[in-house]
Amino acid sequence: MDKLVDSIIITKPDDWHVHFRDGEMLDAVIFDTVKQFSRAIIMPNLSEPITTTNMAKNYRHRILDSLARLKKNNQISKESSFTPLMTLYLTDNTKPEEVLNAHSSGFVFAFKLYPAASTTNSTAGVSNLFENCREVLEKLQYIGMPLLIHAELPDKNIDIFDRERFFIDKIMTPLRRDFPDIKLVFEHVSTKEGVDFVMEDTGPIAATVTPQHLIYNRNSLFSGGLNPHLYCLPILKAEEHRKAILKAVFSGSARFFLGTDSAPHIRSLKENRCGCAGCYNAYNAMALYASIFDENNSLDKLEAFASFNGPDFYGLPRNRDFFVLHRKENIIPDMLEIGKIQLIPLGAGSTINWCI
Ligand code: NCD
Ligand code: ZN
Repeated sequence: MDKLVDSIIITKPDDWHVHFRDGEMLDAVIFDTVKQFSRAIIMPNLSEPITTTNMAKNYRHRILDSLARLKKNNQISKESSFTPLMTLYLTDNTKPEEVLNAHSSGFVFAFKLYPAASTTNSTAGVSNLFENCREVLEKLQYIGMPLLIHAELPDKNIDIFDRERFFIDKIMTPLRRDFPDIKLVFEHVSTKEGVDFVMEDTGPIAATVTPQHLIYNRNSLFSGGLNPHLYCLPILKAEEHRKAILKAVFSGSARFFLGTDSAPHIRSLKENRCGCAGCYNAYNAMALYASIFDENNSLDKLEAFASFNGPDFYGLPRNRDFFVLHRKENIIPDMLEIGKIQLIPLGAGSTINWCI
């Protein structure tokens, strides 16, 4: 592709990892995702986690209602279609039958594994996967439903920068040994070891990649002062890890695809004595991805990453409509105010070369 093109047209992308939250926050953030993506995998870590197909059904209705309000207010066109792909939150007590319910519902597309106490709203997560969830894992493998993994070992004695690496040895490797055919998604991969695991694994596996793990390293967290808006989990890693993620994504491997992990927390909970983990990047996610791909002369790899590899892995059709990105220098706003909600977008105040 000509490096100096001033716009690109790609197949409409999907976001394979997003946090929509609920209530007022859902209403505040849904537009940013809908304006760029056709479908999104909706994370189930609400304050009351979405653990059953019935809960997912109700949550899906709340999302569709929020979408209907956008249409009613003419914020999106009446014809615009957006499909939320629901997920269930795995717990120590998830019944194997729930996998069958989920599968036959037609609107649940995956289970999410949060190791207990690993990240936001994960206290109800899994405390011992191999002791408590074997039958569920067997069912997932049998049915071919993906298990999405927050791949960090939540052990206070393990350095926060090493928690992904330790998780691979402690959980991913035995998981693959015992379940050779289970479909796995290594969510928001953040280390070289994570990338290598995904590249070398012998079963069905993929990884989602966020804009923040492509653009920033751990120095960015402290550049000019402590920046709470770059604090997410898994935490940003050293430059060698960012380089490894870039290399994997630009290799053209179909095992890596777009998952923003857009995780909104109101400004006062980020700029706080004990700030929440999560970056709000949905505001201009596609522009952020395009800019980092462009900087690395890899714009020609963007469409497969954003629009093909995800649906191919999930066994869903690729989108048929198109999406345009323009090369135009623009400054990311310092803050977004949506009604009473203040959010700081990823990269606030910085200049990027692409816009949506
Ligand atoms: C996410 C959130 O806030 O829900 N936070 C984050 O830092 N990424 C949870 C998660 O995906 O870990
Ligand atoms: Zn997430």
